[in-house]
Amino acid sequence: MNKPVAPLYLATDLAVLAKTTGRIAVLIEGNAPRTPAVRQLDRLMRGSLKRFIESDAFTKLKPGEAAELAYPAGLVADAVQVVKLPRRTDTATARKAGGAIGKGLGSAGVLVLAENHTKTTDIALGLTLRAYAFDAYKSGDKKTLGEVTIMVSAPDKMVATALPGSAIAEGVFFTRDLVNEPSNVLTTFEFAERLVALRELGLEVEVLEEEQLVHLGMRLLLGVGQGSESPTKVVVMQWHGGEKGAQPFALVGKGVVFDTGGISIKGAGGMEDMTMDMGGAGVVAGVMRTLALRGAKANVVGLVGIVENMPDGRAQRPGDIVRSMKGDTVEVINTDAEGRLLLADVLWYAQERFNPTGVINLATLTGAIIVALGHENAGVFSNDDDLCNAFLKAAAAEGEGAWRMPMGEAYDDKLKSRLADMMNVGGREGGAIVAAQFIKRFIKDGMPWVHLDIAGTALVKADLPLSPKGATGWGVAALNRLILDKFETK
Ligand code: BES
Ligand code: ZN
Ligand code: MN
Repeated sequence: MNKPVAPLYLATDLAVLAKTTGRIAVLIEGNAPRTPAVRQLDRLMRGSLKRFIESDAFTKLKPGEAAELAYPAGLVADAVQVVKLPRRTDTATARKAGGAIGKGLGSAGVLVLAENHTKTTDIALGLTLRAYAFDAYKSGDKKTLGEVTIMVSAPDKMVATALPGSAIAEGVFFTRDLVNEPSNVLTTFEFAERLVALRELGLEVEVLEEEQLVHLGMRLLLGVGQGSESPTKVVVMQWHGGEKGAQPFALVGKGVVFDTGGISIKGAGGMEDMTMDMGGAGVVAGVMRTLALRGAKANVVGLVGIVENMPDGRAQRPGDIVRSMKGDTVEVINTDAEGRLLLADVLWYAQERFNPTGVINLATLTGAIIVALGHENAGVFSNDDDLCNAFLKAAAAEGEGAWRMPMGEAYDDKLKSRLADMMNVGGREGGAIVAAQFIKRFIKDGMPWVHLDIAGTALVKADLPLSPKGATGWGVAALNRLILDKFETK
């Protein structure tokens, strides 16, 4: 796994500045070098830092953005990165500022002059999250990251409060690695194995194999995988950090390791992106890792359906009618609408076995949600305003885009089947909503439920402030915060 960089905290020591090689990053609020370390740096640079801060170029920077002064006279450092960041700032801007530092992190490392900035842990988290690279398959020029040293007024306090942030970074990196991994490597076996490895953090992990899934009646899930050489699995991860025996909260994820569409096969263009179709399961796994690493005081169970959707002589056909674990029958009109089929069974199993206090499922479910919301917001669907609002609040606090979508009877009517209890698709219009209505049929009455369609947010084609292009790990931070707010904050 890619390890997040762990910043070292150092007490402010002005003598270090003249000797620092590599890069130095300074946080500047307004138009003058005010703090002792920045004043000293400016003195060493013979006033050129001050000149830059008073320039138009600096004025034009937005909070959280940075500019670089290369090979500054008076220093042995290769560059001074000037980051615009007000002293009073919100979490998202502080993380963005950290991201600007992390983006340029190279083998020479960086010294960050944070001094007594109140959002130093967020700056550190942003830096860490942005300094991610998935280069396992690049021969040659691998990015090696140098040391990150953060100069602060009270290093002991920083070390003592570093844990939640480092646990989030670990969870996000775990998710990103899983999502970036190609499907010849991340087979259903490999995926399950990486989740079993979470046992070393104190999670209870079980793998349900096909034989057990047949016994449980999860035919919708098994139908999706029946054309693949890789066996279908359900992995159950339990974190017992709360009151002994108390009902858990459940997270459920779609883990399609590759989605060809099955017999309703997709076009060739862009099909390689379907290596990320296990993104929902990847986020569930990342959250469980974070909860374990920070020792969350809550009972949470994560369940993922791991399966590959392939065309084959044994594959499921359009028109097949399959009985779900719940008992309802589904006419599979389109084998490419497979995510909802597997979620139906895994959600039902989660409710039957754990009787959770609520359930949130995540899935790269529909192209339609990308048409609706782009890559900036995940689609949020819910039957419960309290849980939904709590999630939206947590996502906003973490700077993760989330937008509530409508649901309703009229959308549900589109799923009527001539032959079975329902069809698995209902036409192109409102596709993301109709998919949510399908899933809702497998949620018990009164069970608080949120469905997150992350098809647009799980993977992006351009760099973001806190992640390079590719897998984002969207949702790990928001769900971690939701658990914290809901169960651990009295
Ligand atoms: N995994 C896809 C959805 C998807 C599309 C994820 C693009 C990420 C990027 C899903 O299984 C799928 O194929 N959905 C179909 C549903 C349709 C057949 C009703 C879709 O969106 O086209
Ligand atoms: Zn899919
Ligand atoms: Mn599909």
